Formats: sequence, structure tokens, C-alpha cells
Amino acid sequence: MDAAKYQGVIKRYFNYLPVGKNTPVITLLEGNTPLIFSGRLSEFLGRRFKVYLKFEGANPTGSFKDRGMTLAVSKAKEEKQVAVICASTGNTSASAAAYASRAGLKCIVLIPEGAIALGKLAQALIHQAVVIPIKGNFDTALSLVREISANYPVRLVNSLNPHRIEGQKTASFEICDTLGRAPDFHILPVGNAGNITAYWKGYKEYKAEGRIRRLPAMLGFQAKGACPIVKGRVFKHPKTLATAIRIGNPASWKKAEAARDQSKGLIDAVSDREIIKAYKMLALEGIFVEPASAASIAGLIKLKQQGYFKQPGRKEVVITCTLTGHGLKDPDIAVKSVRTPKSVSPDVKKILRIAKIKK
Ligand code: F0G
Repeated sequence: MDAAKYQGVIKRYFNYLPVGKNTPVITLLEGNTPLIFSGRLSEFLGRRFKVYLKFEGANPTGSFKDRGMTLAVSKAKEEKQVAVICASTGNTSASAAAYASRAGLKCIVLIPEGAIALGKLAQALIHQAVVIPIKGNFDTALSLVREISANYPVRLVNSLNPHRIEGQKTASFEICDTLGRAPDFHILPVGNAGNITAYWKGYKEYKAEGRIRRLPAMLGFQAKGACPIVKGRVFKHPKTLATAIRIGNPASWKKAEAARDQSKGLIDAVSDREIIKAYKMLALEGIFVEPASAASIAGLIKLKQQGYFKQPGRKEVVITCTLTGHGLKDPDIAVKSVRTPKSVSPDVKKILRIAKIKK
């Protein structure tokens, strides 16, 4: 793709989106993110397996939300709205704040008090959103913004807004366009369940258009302490260090189940320990993601260990994993998960000893 000509996901996939000539396109040139081949994970799975990582942390605000937000905010602008509102575990609010600022719209965000990562809070604040921390969790915040947007002139930009899903489905288009086919398996973290819904919609549309021949199995992963879809019950007090997916009652629950069942996939859970292990492993491959994103890779490892990926024959098996958000969003977890270095006096010998460098 010619970078000079790239104009964001709305322009690129115009014919697949509910937009027209009169839609003002509010874009930060989101999308067109790298699909990175992982030699180590491919080797770990075995011969014939190819694992690719869709690094959504490379979006303008550092997460996949930008794909949906460009559309939701452009449509809000087209429909003469003056304000947008969302509940968020952090990334939606960061993205909404940025795109609303660009569009000249007011942005209100409700966040669970003390439970969103520092980088995301900084984003919502610097873009001048009205940030309102709620004494309660994400699910409570979401029910409040649903009530407010239903009764007052503010447009909801959570993934209950269908434009968000429409925008986010462009990630599957990009994957198919890059690979020249659909993957056999697609793995991604599941929180409020909008993204798995969006990817599945995208793959189905490309198949209906004849752009791909087969559909992938959708494999979603929740955190063990916040896995309502896996357990089939609401989690009143969801718990996980992957704050982005600390959600106990996902809005798109039924649609996620439909994606799972129609694609013959699964939705399972991984522990925080498995998430952090995968998080550190990705970092060693040069890729810095936030913990929730590492749930994809933790899931991949878990399934491999369970012998899930048995594929008869000699055909190549392609697995894509979405890495939903950038590691810089949550610097606290990064620093806590490794040993912090001690400072030393400015002495060459000491430095050489610590760095284990010899002549
Ligand atoms: N990964 C990250 C980094 C996220 O921020 C989210 C959701 C997900 C995965 C899960 O995606 O909700 O579509 O199933 N974050 C939302 C937010 C809830 O408010 O930023 P999902």
C-alpha cells in the first residue's frame, strides 16, 4: 500500500461500509496495521503452521477501537450530533476522545474508578473529554451510558453502536487482502464481545463477495476471573489484571456465541498467569502489547498444549491472532512484571559487570 495515498479505513473499504458521498470522513488514518509473521510461535506449533500477528497497537490511539471510532464519529457528525458518550475500560474512551476532538464534538466518558490503565486515562484527559470515574465496574458504567444516550441528545459510541462493528470488521478484510485468503483459525481476546462479532461479520462478507473461499474458526479468549461467556453466567465482580477485558456482562454476548457456533470455533478462558507469560514472550519477539492482547497468545499456547490444532494432511495451516492494544497503554504492569534495575555510580567497570561484557 502506498503510504502517501492511504486515507484510512473508510476510504479504503468505502463500498463495504454504510457511508455515502455526504459522510464527513473523520479519520486519523487508522487501519493498515502490520500483519507480523511470528517465526517462534509458528515453530512452536509445528511444521506446516504459520502464525501471523495483527498488531492493532499500531493504530493512531494504540488500539483496534480506532477502526470503529472513525466510522461512529463520522456518522455522528453526518447526523448532526453534538456529543458522544461511552463507558470504557480505557481504549474506547481514548479513541472516542481523540476522534471526537478531531470532529469538534463533545465527548463524555464513564470509566470504572481506579480500574483503567494510566496511558488510557492520559489519552482521554489530554483530548479534553469529560472524564467521569464511576464507583462501580465497566458493566455499571455501560448501563448508565445506555440510559443517558437513550434519553438525551448524545450519541453512544460503545460497540452497541452498529457503526463501531462495521468499522472494526475492516480488520478481517485487511488480513484476507494481505494473505490472499482467510486464515484457518482466528484468535482474539473477548471482553464486551464487539470485536469477535465484527471480525466474524467481516469474514462472512468477504466470503459472500467471493473474496475468500473459506471461513476461519473463531477462537475467543476471556480472562479466567472475567469469563461470563465461558461459564454461561454474569460475573458480578469480574477480576483480572487485564483491565481492558474486565467485563462481567458483555453487551454482544449472544453475537459472540453466534460467531463461535457458526464458525465451529470456541470461547475459552486463560488465567492471569498465562496472560503474563504470553505478554513477556511477545516482548521477547519485539512486540509490546497490553495484557488483554496477550490473551490471544495465551489462548494459542493453551490450545496447542491441549492438542487442538491437529490438522490431517500436508496442507499449510494459517493462524492469525489479533493483538488488540499497545503495551505503552499500561506501563505499570510492564514495570511490575520484570525486575526493576538498580542505579549505580558512573563507573565503567561496574557497568561492564552488570551488562556481562568482557574483552
Ligand atoms: N483488548 C483490548 C486491548 C480492549 O481494550 C478490549 C476492549 C478488548 C480486547 C476486548 O474487545 O470488548 O470488543 O470484546 N475494550 C473495551 C474498552 C471494552 O472500553 O476499551 P471487545
